[in-house]
Formats: sequence, C-alpha cells, structure tokens
Amino acid sequence: MSDTEGALKGKNYAILKKRTLVEGEDAILEYVVDAPLIARHAQAGQFVILRTANEGERIPLTIAAYDREAGTIALIVQIVGLSTRKMAELEAGDAILDLLGPLGTPIEVRRHEKPVVCMGGGVGIAPIWPKVKELYDLGNHVITIIGARTKRLLILEEELRAISTEIHVTTDDGSYGRKGFVTGVLHDVLEQREGEIAEVIAVGPLPMMEAVVKEMAGKGFRDAYDPSLEYDPSRIPCIVSLNPIMVDGTGMCGGCRVSIWDHAKGEYQARFSCVDGPAFDGYAVDFAGLNRRNRQYISQERVARRDGSGAGA
Ligand SMILES: Cc1cc2nc3c(=O)[nH]c(=O)nc-3n(C[C@H](O)[C@H](O)[C@H](O)COP(=O)(O)OP(=O)(O)OC[C@H]3O[C@@H](n4cnc5c(N)ncnc54)[C@H](O)[C@@H]3O)c2cc1C
Ligand code: FES
Repeated sequence: MSDTEGALKGKNYAILKKRTLVEGEDAILEYVVDAPLIARHAQAGQFVILRTANEGERIPLTIAAYDREAGTIALIVQIVGLSTRKMAELEAGDAILDLLGPLGTPIEVRRHEKPVVCMGGGVGIAPIWPKVKELYDLGNHVITIIGARTKRLLILEEELRAISTEIHVTTDDGSYGRKGFVTGVLHDVLEQREGEIAEVIAVGPLPMMEAVVKEMAGKGFRDAYDPSLEYDPSRIPCIVSLNPIMVDGTGMCGGCRVSIWDHAKGEYQARFSCVDGPAFDGYAVDFAGLNRRNRQYISQERVARRDGSGAGA
C-alpha cells in the first residue's frame, strides 16, 4: 500500500480539488484539502508543513484560503524542486500523508482609518490572498498590488479583484498590466497619497520584499539596507513574510533562524520564523543574512533535482 493510499484509508487530508493556475515546468497548483481542525483555527499569515511521502522532505506552505464551514483549506504551490514536483503528482482523490498546522503567528488584521497596501509577488500572491480578504471583510480600503515576471505566471487576479478596493497589476516584461516591478506602483501610491497609508504588507521573493522596504524607508536610501543605521518610529509600518529554510516548524531545529534588529537593545536578535513569524517588521530584517542562509543548500538541491534521490531533504 502506498503512503497516499494509507492516508486516504484513514481519510487524512484528502485532496478534494486540484486546479492548475499556471501550466509548465514551473507550474502553480491549487489544492483544496479536507482539514477541518486546521480550517477552524487558521488565520491570515499562518502556514502548514506537509509531507507527501514517508521519505519526503517537509514543505512549508501558506494557508492561502480557509473555509471553516466546509472544513477545508487551500494550498497554492509552485513547482521548484524535488518535493514540490512530487506534490504535483497528487490528484483530487489522493491524500497528503501528513499536514501540521496552523503554524506561525497570525498577522494582526484590524480596521484602519487609512488605506492599507497589500503586495504580492509571484507565488507570494497566494499568501497575500487571506490577508486581503480579512482586511476587506473588516471594511478596510485595500489597495492590492500584484506582479509576476510575465502574464503566464500571474495568479489569482480575479479572486483578488473581487475583494480589493483598488488593484494594480504589473509584469516585469510588460506582457500584461503595467511594465515593471510592483515597487514602481508602490512608489506612485506613496507619492500620490502622502501621509494617507496606514500600513504596507508585502509577500514575495526576498529581493522584492527588500526593495519594498527600501522604497518605504525613503527614496535614495542606501543600496544595502541596514536597519541598524536608521530608525524612524513614524514610518509607515511595513510587514514582510519571510521564507527561510524550515525543517520542523516548531522552533526546535533552528533551521528557520533569522536576524531581526531589536531597536530597544540596539542589536540583532535571532528569531525563529516558524514560531515568531513568518511575518516581521520589514525595517528590522537582516535581508543580506537571510539571503546567505537560503542559498546554503543550493548544491544539494541541484543534486536532488538531477537524480531524484531526495538528497536535498
Ligand atoms: C512560511 C513559508 C511559507 C511558504 N509558502 C509557500 C506557498 O504558499 N507556496 C509556495 O509555492 N511556496 C511556499 N513556500 C516555499 C516552499 O516551501 C518551497 O518552495 C518548497 O519547500 C521547495 O521545495 P522543493 O523540494 O520542491 O525545492 P528545493 O529544490 O528543495 O528548493 C528550491 C528552493 O526552495 C526554497 N526552499 C526549499 N526548501 C525549503 C523549505 N523547507 N523552506 C523554505 N524554503 C525552502 C529554497 O529557496 C530553495 O532554493 C513557503 C516557504 C515558507 C518558509
Ligand atoms: S523550522 Fe525548525 S526552528 Fe523553525
């Protein structure tokens, strides 16, 4: 009996629906999974860690949507390496072997007098979806800015349009929406609505989140953003959701350690993304250090992808 059959027998985490959002090598897939307990407790900003097979790597994925009544959660996954490729083989009717969650600290969502900006880049558009929904449901003016490298990779535009007060779309290559990066739109929004933005939430690739922080910190800010050099408490809050390597998701293994500047102590403090995050004050994040840590397993991942051995696990 395969792992999948075993899990289905126990009716654990059955996949109820599978939808292809983007086709191809770098496909983006949406799974609706039967997980009533997780659905009951999930909040915006939280994630799950799952395995599709006993010998498999543990994959952290944001809870992109949840339906408490139906007892389901939605996961959106981009195929990047061995484990996500194995996940792509699962179809509706299969089951996920194990699923731990909801993990992480939820992002505080409340009603603001001023507009809130939610930014999603690439597959980071998925994690921004529940935040936009919760903010919009509370009556906020939500300015959503989403972007992808090219039109083919743009996901969830219609879903987000339905729950945003305004939506702006960019593609790096200009194949759809405004040509350029999401930070270009942010720049204009900040200029046109000076003093009118309550907060900015950004989720996407690390360079995108770092660029958002730099834009928020002020034009002409030094290239390598250093949180220790400048701290202005009157800045518009800017929340980013970090994606370091994760293993256990419980704060025990240290794999997801990130350095966060502690303004009171005047030094970096180690934080664990899985329990203290994944959302953090963007101005306090040591992006350079996180970049270095995220790249440390690149050669093992290459081997795992080449021979399918799971050596990167
Ligand atoms: C809190 C959190 C939420 C995430 N949410 C989503 C999501 O909603 N949708 C989505 O498509 N992806 C999400 N990711 C990233 C996803 O976990 C990785 O893409 C996936 O684990 C890659 O596994 P792989 O074996 O297919 O690729 P690999 O070949 O192992 O890795 C490819 C790249 O993925 C990243 N990566 C690999 N393993 C991990 C890991 N355990 N933790 C974090 N990053 C890793 C690394 O940057 C690596 O270079 C999230 C990551 C975190 C930490
Ligand atoms: S994933 Fe192990 S400490 Fe966070």
